[in-house]
Amino acid sequence: MELKNDRFLRALARQHVDRTPVWMMRQAGRYLPEYREVRGQAGDFMSLCRDADRACEVTLQPLERYALDAAILFSDILTIPDAMGLGLYFETGEGPKFRKTVRSEADVAALHQPVAERDLDYVMRAVSTIRRELNGRVPLIGFSGSPWTLATYMVEGGSSKDFRHVKSMLYGSPDTMHQLLDILAHSVTDYLNAQIRAGAQAVQIFDTWGGTLSTPAYREFSLSYMEQIVAGLIREHEGRRVPVILFTKNGGQWLEDIAGSGPDAVGLDWTTELSDARARVGHKVALQGNLDPNVLFANPAAIRAEVGRILDSYGEGPGHVFNLGHGISQFTDPGHVDAFIDALHELSPRYHNQIAMG
Ligand code: CP3
Repeated sequence: MELKNDRFLRALARQHVDRTPVWMMRQAGRYLPEYREVRGQAGDFMSLCRDADRACEVTLQPLERYALDAAILFSDILTIPDAMGLGLYFETGEGPKFRKTVRSEADVAALHQPVAERDLDYVMRAVSTIRRELNGRVPLIGFSGSPWTLATYMVEGGSSKDFRHVKSMLYGSPDTMHQLLDILAHSVTDYLNAQIRAGAQAVQIFDTWGGTLSTPAYREFSLSYMEQIVAGLIREHEGRRVPVILFTKNGGQWLEDIAGSGPDAVGLDWTTELSDARARVGHKVALQGNLDPNVLFANPAAIRAEVGRILDSYGEGPGHVFNLGHGISQFTDPGHVDAFIDALHELSPRYHNQIAMG
């Protein structure tokens, strides 16, 4: 089936586009009243993820409202640890939690290594349902957490501010840490390949917590495992390249290393300037980002000014996918997202004028 809008895939391949493509991390979610309604019908978040028709419905909701250039699978990064037997649940206002934690070598040895197509079949059903319903409108992005980011939740038992337990494992029992990360890297590779076979047309690895590490620890405990995953991914499917985007939040200082690990694109948060990132790695990868999601709390004129500033920072020519620098907040006014997307549609075509570029 033909893809009607391939701006996103073209930009990732650093090919010419008529305007800068855009999607938003966490674009389906609680800031949309129609999401809250479907989630209420499903009962809880994980039941929503397990219900392919409802997961498909909420995936498409932001596309009905806004002219976005990609859809992202509605699911969560914590489905893998859940399938490993840790018992994921969500307590309102407290974020994700696990019934079991992984703190010792014995805990690592007891983990069930999931087979994605069997143990996470509900995710693959969601992917194929969404692909069918999208009907070629825009490409579908699949995703996973990075091994390090998944490990932080598994060892801490949920969200953390200081990463006390996972870092004591990293520094005190590095062998155990490596065993855990190795299992996760294999699981993530299998999971993303299953998503690609089910119909994902690009994949993103979320390394939300890589930026909490020292430079040598980042290389050893986060990036090396993402590099292993990237090397094991299906890179062509249905006659088209399946691009891989690596997003390490707060990873700006390691851009050369990240770009060198084999992805098609690097996701940036707002603390890295796009002009600087492009000068450093723009010859190697496409760049995705990087509006501070908090800008969306400001008035439409301020939002527009910031969109213009970011387009200017990247400059003319291909290779930029517009996005937020992290997930959209649940407190965002959906009308402010209109201001963001309208500004981008209006301001970005002038950066893609092939004649002016020569
Ligand atoms: O981008 C999308 O629209 C796709 C769906 C998506 C969700 N989570 C849905 C979700 C994606 C890509 C994620 C990734 C994710 N999940 C990450 C990495 C990205 C990031 O934000 O850094 C992380 C760290 C998680 C773990 C997670 N899941 C947390 C911390 C929470 C709780 C958030 C909170 O504010 O309570 C979740 C739950 C979650 N995942 C929600 C959504 C829409 C909210 C659940 C609800 O409806 O209550």
